[in-house]
Amino acid sequence: ALAVQRSLNSQLKFPCLDRCGKTSQCSRLVSYLEGQGQSAELWRFPDRSTSVGQMISSYLSNTSQLDDHTIHLLFSANRWEKRSLMETKLKTGTSLIVDRYSYSGVAFSSAKGLDFEWCKAPETGLLDPDLVVFLDISPEKAAERGGYGGERYEQIEFQRKVAKNYEVLRDASWKVVDACQPIEDVEKQLQEIVLDCVMSCQKGKPFSHLWS
Ligand code: TMP
Repeated sequence: ALAVQRSLNSQLKFPCLDRCGKTSQCSRLVSYLEGQGQSAELWRFPDRSTSVGQMISSYLSNTSQLDDHTIHLLFSANRWEKRSLMETKLKTGTSLIVDRYSYSGVAFSSAKGLDFEWCKAPETGLLDPDLVVFLDISPEKAAERGGYGGERYEQIEFQRKVAKNYEVLRDASWKVVDACQPIEDVEKQLQEIVLDCVMSCQKGKPFSHLWS
């Protein structure tokens, strides 16, 4: 999924199944917003550049093994270590397009059987996005896409469970975009939804926090 979150500016989050095309759509969106004269940045979770992010990365590539609770908390810590920078960026008028966020944290970890509420707890207090966009694709269609299966969670049975969890997390405020449409159509729809959000956030909007 993709999301934007801000207060003076927007924070948009994209939670999704793996291989739904969100990463390229997120980067196209940033270019689009910049073309519209907006200050925008692409963020991504996990952020593999930090030391916590490197532990996550080696877990995802099956280079290391970790207890399910431990890796869940590392994903969460990886968001917490970026929280204050996120707030600063938003306050200074930069919109953030965020490729995955807490929703992915809960949907993936609870697909392993961890308690849903336990998974939500460490995310409490992180900034709430101004918009959450879900790029909708079936686990079967995602598996047909190139590069699938390279990382730990890219297995169809597991992704089916993740998809069910996103349904539980999803509320009426999420925008759902069909990720199986031609790339240009997905892009166009995202541009409209996101520009709308960025404009409305510029009127000034207080921060809110998960899970409100
Ligand atoms: P990526 O493919 O978007 O880089 O994400 C890497 C994998 O990590 C993907 O399978 C989803 C998973 N994930 C979690 O399990 N918990 C999280 O909190 C996040 C952000 C991603």
